[in-house]
Amino acid sequence: MKISEYAKHLLLAPNLEDKLLPPSRQWEEETEFTALRIETPGRSTKFQFSDKKVKIPRLEHLGLESNRGLSLHHFANHELMAIELFAWALLAFPLAPKSIRNGFLKTIEEEQTHLKLYLQRMREFGIDFGDIPLNYIFWKQLGQFGSLESFSAVMSISFEGANLDYAQVYAQVFSYFGDQLTSDIMLTIFEDEVKHVKRGLRAFERSVPDNTNHWDHYLSLIQFPFTPRRAKGYLYLPETRSLAGMDSEFIQSLGNYEDEYTGRVNLESVKKFGLGETILRKNRLDSHSPNL
Ligand SMILES: [Fe+2]
Ligand SMILES: [Fe+2]
Repeated sequence: MKISEYAKHLLLAPNLEDKLLPPSRQWEEETEFTALRIETPGRSTKFQFSDKKVKIPRLEHLGLESNRGLSLHHFANHELMAIELFAWALLAFPLAPKSIRNGFLKTIEEEQTHLKLYLQRMREFGIDFGDIPLNYIFWKQLGQFGSLESFSAVMSISFEGANLDYAQVYAQVFSYFGDQLTSDIMLTIFEDEVKHVKRGLRAFERSVPDNTNHWDHYLSLIQFPFTPRRAKGYLYLPETRSLAGMDSEFIQSLGNYEDEYTGRVNLESVKKFGLGETILRKNRLDSHSPNL
């Protein structure tokens, strides 16, 4: 199989098993070098995009299994979109450097692992994927993906970057409620997402012009109404961005960015769950979770 055929399969085949087909270890030589921008993924009826708003359970309510299941359903949807959109990028940027394309393939494989982890745990909580409406927030950004660097700015620096904050918050809260297994899943994913942000940074950094700082370049790549707010959680954990190797001035500028949503963090839950006091790492927990 050629990489372009594989990417088309992930994008256009309708079933979840199709989206979970892992990348091959060996590829036939590529012959397709024309950029292809596929506007919508193939999805079976159960996984269609929906505009219905679904509320994510509040952190305080995650003691209930059903609420943990709903949260995981939400995260699983992000993983599915990431698989599709990294496949999309393989087709849209056929002339990207080989190292970047190989990085996309590695990311796809890891997003597939994340999706499987969520699917399995959600089912234990009685929720199957597609049971509730699926938003298409990542797919809505297609108009911004005009270049490899803008794709990386939106997908990796913004969405995957914000996920570093969220993975930490949920790992902490699931652990607070005694669900170590789900907490460990969040940390496994966190460690991979640090790598994904790193890969995105590589694509982004090679495009930063001389005499331009990373922050200004990032701002030049994203388009309103998409703002840097998408690049962080309601609780911003700058240490996670340092782990991913982000430029320190960029980390600070992102921290300083404010808009009308700033200050909406529920400080009570930050206090109650001890959020943000430390960054949890997978390797620190390994001794407690030999099964993962
Ligand atoms: Fe992921
Ligand atoms: Fe990712």
